[in-house]
Amino acid sequence: MDTEKEIKNAVVERYTNAALQESGCCSSSCGCGGDDAPGMNEYYSDADQHIIEEADLGLGCGNPTAFSELKEGMTVLDLGSGAGIDVFLAAREVGPTGKAIGLDMTPAMIDRATKNREKLGITNVEFVLGSIDSMPLEDGSVDYILSNCVLNLVPDKQKAFQEMFRVLKSSGKFTVSDIVTVGEVNEDARKDLSLWTNCVSGAVEKMQYVKKLREAGFSDVTIMKEKTVNTFREYGFGLVSITVSGTK
Ligand SMILES: C[S@@+](CC[C@H](N)C(=O)[O-])C[C@H]1O[C@@H](n2cnc3c(N)ncnc32)[C@H](O)[C@@H]1O
Repeated sequence: MDTEKEIKNAVVERYTNAALQESGCCSSSCGCGGDDAPGMNEYYSDADQHIIEEADLGLGCGNPTAFSELKEGMTVLDLGSGAGIDVFLAAREVGPTGKAIGLDMTPAMIDRATKNREKLGITNVEFVLGSIDSMPLEDGSVDYILSNCVLNLVPDKQKAFQEMFRVLKSSGKFTVSDIVTVGEVNEDARKDLSLWTNCVSGAVEKMQYVKKLREAGFSDVTIMKEKTVNTFREYGFGLVSITVSGTK
C-alpha cells in the first residue's frame, strides 16, 4: 500500500472513532487535544456554549473564526469540519444570505455534523464528504476558507494549499489554525501513524508551512497567533499551534 493511502486510512479510522464517541473528548484521550499533545485545545467564548455542547469534540487547536473577517452573505468553507463547531460559528457570522460548507473525508464525522445541524436548527449550512487534496467544489466558488487542526493531517500539503487557492474567489481569504513544528520531524516519528493521526508527525516546520502557502499563490501570509504546545524532546522537535491568514 502506498504511504499516502495508508496515512489517510489511519486518519479516517481515528476520526471515525472520535465521531462515534458519545460526547466531546476535550483534553483527555483523543485526537489533536490528546495525550500525545496536551494543551492544544483553544476555548471558545461563553456565548457559543450551546453550539460547543453539541459540536465541539475537543479536536481543534485554535479558534479561526475569531481571527477571520467574515461578512454577511459570504460563502465560507471549513476544511476538515469534524462535528461542525467552526461551521456553525461561521454560519452565524455570514447570516441567512450567506452559507457555510463543512468538508470532511470521514463519513461518520459528516453524519455527526449533519445531526448536529438538525439539533441546532441551523439552515445555512451544508456538509460535504470529500478530501482536501481533491475537493468536489468548483473553481472560485468560495469567499473565505477556515480550518482548525486539520492540514497537518494531510500528507500532500502543497496539493492541499493549491486546492485552497483553486476554490477561493479572486481576493478571497483564509484563516487557518494548525500545528507546525520548530525543528524537523525525524523519519522515526514520520512513520508513526499514531503520532500522525494525533496531529504530531504530519506537521511541517513553521517557515516551510508559510513558504508552501506562498508557493501555492497566496499573498499577505501572516501568522496572527502562535502558542507552544509541546516539546517532543525524544524526537528533537517542538509543536506550535498557529493561526495563519492569507489572500488569493
Ligand atoms: C483533528 S480533527 C478537527 C475537527 C474540527 N476541525 C474541529 O476543530 O473540531 C480533524 C478532522 O479533519 C478531517 N480530515 C483529515 N484529513 C482530511 C482530508 N484530507 N480531507 C478532509 N478531511 C480531513 C478528519 O476526518 C477530522 O474530522
